[in-house]
Amino acid sequence: MTPGIRPLIAGNWKMHGTLREAGALAEAVRAGAAGLPADLLVCPPFLHVPSLAALLAGGPVAVGAQDCHAATKGAHTGDVSAPMLRDAGATHVILGHSERRADHAETDAVVRAKVQAALAAGLIPVACVGETEAQRLGGEAEAVVRRQLAESLPDDFAGIVAYEPVWAIGTGRTPTEADIAAIHATIRETLVARFGPAGQGMRILYGGSMKPGNAKAILALPNVDGGLVGGASLVSADFLAIAAAAG
Ligand code: PGA
Repeated sequence: MTPGIRPLIAGNWKMHGTLREAGALAEAVRAGAAGLPADLLVCPPFLHVPSLAALLAGGPVAVGAQDCHAATKGAHTGDVSAPMLRDAGATHVILGHSERRADHAETDAVVRAKVQAALAAGLIPVACVGETEAQRLGGEAEAVVRRQLAESLPDDFAGIVAYEPVWAIGTGRTPTEADIAAIHATIRETLVARFGPAGQGMRILYGGSMKPGNAKAILALPNVDGGLVGGASLVSADFLAIAAAAG
């Protein structure tokens, strides 16, 4: 936690759920959202963004997407632009997730262009960084994260950063609390050095095998201002339990 920053618990639903399942999950999250010590965000697949934004409108649960194109429109078959997401009711967009970086060869420069597009469209970007296992074992985790921040964030960045060690995503493994705290401190220093006082107020989320059982300890660490939750966000009780652990 960072004094003065309200935690955010964000669910990254990845490529899961029919519209009916997504609606039921969103309803269950909304039903349990009152009085939690964190803001809540759910990020369904593109296809469900408009329906969920309508379903959750006016309530405490925000809706985001998992990617956007860097251009506002054009000949980009299969892509969705940031203005389209805003128009559909999204307020946030996850960018540079390691699965996008790996599956779609997204470089830091591509991620930066997408972050710029999100900002221009009035979306809050959730920019993801994190080292691979080989990089961690090679002692390069901090350098990798610094480089990703330098190259993935534009100079006018305003948004959320998520630290997700690639080797912790979906594996049930997490870094030690000391390792999480160390990287989050590095991210905070980097944000403050680059963006001044605004960097002090930016949320830094941890992601990678966050569960009800480990959330309290992780969310209590300095500079951990919430979580980006994959697998556990697909079970409403687990997602809500993680949010409850933010207090
Ligand atoms: P996980 O995924 O919680 O299933 O590890 C996190 C993420 O990829 O955002």
